[in-house]
Amino acid sequence: MIVRMSRLSYRYPGSEDWVLKDVNFEADAGEFVLLVGPSGCGKSTFARVFNGLIPHFYGGELVGEIEVCGMDPREHPTYEFAECVGFVFQNPENQLFFTSVERELAFGLENLGLPREEISRRVEQALREYQLAELRDRSPYELSGGQQQRLAIASVMVMQPKILVLDEPTANLDPFTAVRILALVRRKTIEEGVTAIVIEHRLEVALPFATRMVVMVNGQIVDDGNPAEVIARQKHVVGRPQALELVERLIQAGLSLEVEKPSPEHIALSIARAYKVGEHAARRKRGSPG
Ligand SMILES: Nc1ncnc2c1ncn2[C@@H]1O[C@H](COP(=O)(O)OP(=O)(O)OP(=O)(O)O)[C@@H](O)[C@H]1O
Ligand SMILES: [Mg+2]
Repeated sequence: MIVRMSRLSYRYPGSEDWVLKDVNFEADAGEFVLLVGPSGCGKSTFARVFNGLIPHFYGGELVGEIEVCGMDPREHPTYEFAECVGFVFQNPENQLFFTSVERELAFGLENLGLPREEISRRVEQALREYQLAELRDRSPYELSGGQQQRLAIASVMVMQPKILVLDEPTANLDPFTAVRILALVRRKTIEEGVTAIVIEHRLEVALPFATRMVVMVNGQIVDDGNPAEVIARQKHVVGRPQALELVERLIQAGLSLEVEKPSPEHIALSIARAYKVGEHAARRKRGSPG
């Protein structure tokens, strides 16, 4: 397990209320964990624990057991997590510091002391993958919200972290770009065994990629598991994507459907399968061949 938390609780300085309460959470290499929950339930706070922003930057009181990449964030400074944990903030402009897009991408790599060629190879790849090539000389502050978000994600990805924590990474992106970026993240989990923790309100966008869904309410994890099953149990909390509502109605209407994953592709496949079975049965009844 690359992440282990056991009975983890946290409160901000000067507050009596615990924002995280007795959180138990583990994650393995290759998982794409979708973290959802009502606004203010503690998702961003939870994210800040992964690289030690809590408690080092925010202060407050963190109790319980925690290990990320084999380290307890309370005992290691945040820079020691830079190589292992990539963190994209909810407001990406807060994590852009440099005078150009290219500098922004190269800085962390130079800090790691990587060879020139390797730095330039990774930067070029990121410029391509995140469609930033034309913006390479622009100042990050002059970019649009969506461009800044792409840059923030890219500058974390170039570091090739083992854990990616993305706090509402697609909030400023159009739906096509949002899906493309999450697909890139999913590819990293499959091909490189990266663990992704993604906070995302738009279920439609993130669900096709999630291998697991975690629901937080009022600082506690109230459900954790297979995304379709979690949604079925927690629809009063997390809502329900239209695609799944359609499936439920079709089942109510008498269609026998088994949906592997709550994505339009899988749903379409299972409808096609059910339709073919039905057609076949009808033909047999009529006594026609085939
Ligand atoms: N820096 C801070 N200092 C004190 N309290 C904070 C701080 N940041 C967040 N909180 C409080 O902690 C609680 C959880 O906030 P958090 O930002 O983690 O929620 P969230 O689930 O990410 O919400 P959203 O979906 O709106 O982003 C809230 O009550 C919030 O007011
Ligand atoms: Mg938040």
